[in-house]
Amino acid sequence: MTGEVFPFHVGARPTREHVEEGIAAGRYRDEDNDSFWIDHSEHGRIGFFRLEDLSDGAPLFDLRLASAWRGRGLAREVVRAAADRVFSTMPEVQRFEGQTREDNRAMRRVFETSGWVQEAYYREGWPVAAGEPLGSVAYSILRRDWETGEVTPLRWS
Ligand SMILES: CC(C)(COP(=O)(O)OP(=O)(O)OC[C@H]1O[C@@H](n2cnc3c(N)ncnc32)[C@H](O)[C@@H]1OP(=O)(O)O)[C@@H](O)C(=O)NCCC(=O)NCCS
Repeated sequence: MTGEVFPFHVGARPTREHVEEGIAAGRYRDEDNDSFWIDHSEHGRIGFFRLEDLSDGAPLFDLRLASAWRGRGLAREVVRAAADRVFSTMPEVQRFEGQTREDNRAMRRVFETSGWVQEAYYREGWPVAAGEPLGSVAYSILRRDWETGEVTPLRWS
């Protein structure tokens, strides 16, 4: 967390103090949150994955690949493994959610090619430390789509 830059996160360069404060506050593991290393069968440890809002019945995730492993198409496998884990170990969960900054093209492409559906676009909803806020884009995958491999379309009206 402290050795990498996360350009699309609100805190792009987490400090040790911030991470330790988050651990103490339960943001990495408590009834609402859980954290995982991402261990790839071929490459070893490639990143970090956190689930949020677990007690809501519709968890959200935070995915952070180490910079050495970005740009290689690995996130799609991670998102698939995460959905497999969530839906196969949490029977009460019907929706798995993700949110990203509008200019995070790589993350958005991963969602769009993994059976996730864009459900919201919050204009100026993502604070940016040194500039104007950007849009925040929300996606989800439904349990039944995960089960069938189909994509339930969204009707806006
Ligand atoms: C964002 C992140 C998860 C993406 O994972 P990744 O495996 O590195 O993704 P890739 O760079 O391989 O790109 C995935 C897809 O997006 C496309 N893409 C990447 N950058 C793009 C851009 N600027 N414009 C358009 N498409 C782009 C790639 O071509 C690829 O598509 P393809 O597989 O169909 O060819 C990863 O880079 C990361 O962890 N970044 C730091 C943390 C972060 O931003 N996490 C997201 C939090 S929600």
